[in-house]
Amino acid sequence: MANLSVNFAGLQLANPLIASAGPITANAEHIKKLEEAGIGAIVTKTGFTKKEYERWVGRSDIFPYKPAYKYMSLKDGTLLCLPTLSDVPVSETAKRIERMKRDLNIPIIASIMGLSLAGYRESARIVEDAGADAIELDLCCPLPEFTTLYRYAGQNASLDPKVYAQIIKCAKKAVSIPVGVKSTVSLYVSPRILNGLIRSKLANRLPDFLTVVGQLDQNPGVDLETLKPLIPHIPSFGWEGELHRLTYSALAVFSSALGTTNPALSASGGIRDYQGVVQAMALGATTVQFQTAILDKGPAVISKILKDLNSYLDARGLSRLDQIVGIGSKDCIPASVLGEFMLARDTLYGVLCAAVDAGLCTGCETCARVCTENAITVKDKKAVIEKAKCRACNLCVLKCPVKAISLDNIVELEKLMDKYKHSEKASALKGFMNKKKIGRIDALLFIRQMKKWGLV
Ligand SMILES: Cc1cc2nc3c(=O)[nH]c(=O)nc-3n(C[C@H](O)[C@H](O)[C@H](O)COP(=O)(O)O)c2cc1C
Ligand code: SF4
Ligand code: SF4
Repeated sequence: MANLSVNFAGLQLANPLIASAGPITANAEHIKKLEEAGIGAIVTKTGFTKKEYERWVGRSDIFPYKPAYKYMSLKDGTLLCLPTLSDVPVSETAKRIERMKRDLNIPIIASIMGLSLAGYRESARIVEDAGADAIELDLCCPLPEFTTLYRYAGQNASLDPKVYAQIIKCAKKAVSIPVGVKSTVSLYVSPRILNGLIRSKLANRLPDFLTVVGQLDQNPGVDLETLKPLIPHIPSFGWEGELHRLTYSALAVFSSALGTTNPALSASGGIRDYQGVVQAMALGATTVQFQTAILDKGPAVISKILKDLNSYLDARGLSRLDQIVGIGSKDCIPASVLGEFMLARDTLYGVLCAAVDAGLCTGCETCARVCTENAITVKDKKAVIEKAKCRACNLCVLKCPVKAISLDNIVELEKLMDKYKHSEKASALKGFMNKKKIGRIDALLFIRQMKKWGLV
């Protein structure tokens, strides 16, 4: 049996599986079952201070949901979360944490959110006093648009690098346990989060971990009998779809920009099986957080994943799971140069093209169906690619069941990737983030350089 244990931001976990904040961690009985199934750690449902909880939930003029409706049960038994409504104020969460610390042997990470710096400070102290082993700042929950006035709450805070760094600094100053931050990442938000992390580093208050969540607007679909929506569309997350792919992208851009330990990375979003865990870890995650998979399949999914991870490692002759952390992220484009890389990649249109090996092609037409550019037709049972139309998106390469397609001139793309992966800007940022302590001179020189590069 391989060793599945990981050191996550100073916490020793028996394995990398964490039950993420949400209904699965909202009560002690559920959590006990998760521990019995082998979960490595849990994150409590996000809580506010009592004062802010009342201010938030009590604003019925702008916030029409009553706590009773915080989870809606859909016809198929799944749950819809009305975003960010806490189950109880953080003072109640603290009582639950005290009980968990008596009943459980796994690390407890407390999730908190605030409407102000004072709210974060107070909540952080309350959960530390209750015995939490670490804190996760919830800067990820999507908020209804009329709550944008709360610039410190949830995802709003991830949009403003100054606020993001302020919250991290404030929480880290308030407590001595590890403090991580959970952010919902999209291409649009990732430069802002990177900017916020650089600011945190300049203040010598880098978070101990960063939980990245791939973003999806959930829509549970339509009743096939009535053709009516199962429930009106409310932005939130929890429905997996291809969400894990967004989670992988988010991980890849951060792990390749920052490394995998400063901060340690945790992946959340769409991961349901051991293959998802292995891929997330290879892309830099030390831990993986689950919600929907456990809601859908119950705690048994945890023991199944652990068993499958063991078989995977045994089959590959690996003795430790943590050996795979970040292996794949070395080949990814860092967040610090992602925008420039994407523009440069456009210059390869026409050079980089899909090409078919006619000897292998069976004429199944899969490639023609997936190509959004209509670049592929199948004639006489063989795929033919119109090079002028091909945008080298690689989709047909991935989807061809017999691997008959490859990208011509891929060496040009690899050269370009190498240039960006190892560019002065990418290496300098990684070196800076991994420095133990930032002195004043370092900071001043670096700020000047960062400004020149447009990173802060
Ligand atoms: C019903 C529900 C409630 C949730 N509540 C919280 C929360 O309070 N705090 C938080 O940080 N994330 C919350 N999440 C997000 C999950 O922790 C998780 O990051 C997200 O669902 C993506 O993972 P998954 O694909 O495994 O569900 C919630 C998700 C769901 C489905
Ligand atoms: S998907 Fe592959 S096998 Fe099928 S038609 Fe396209 S190239 Fe041929
Ligand atoms: S690489 Fe993309 S654009 Fe080009 S043929 Fe394949 S699917 Fe179409």
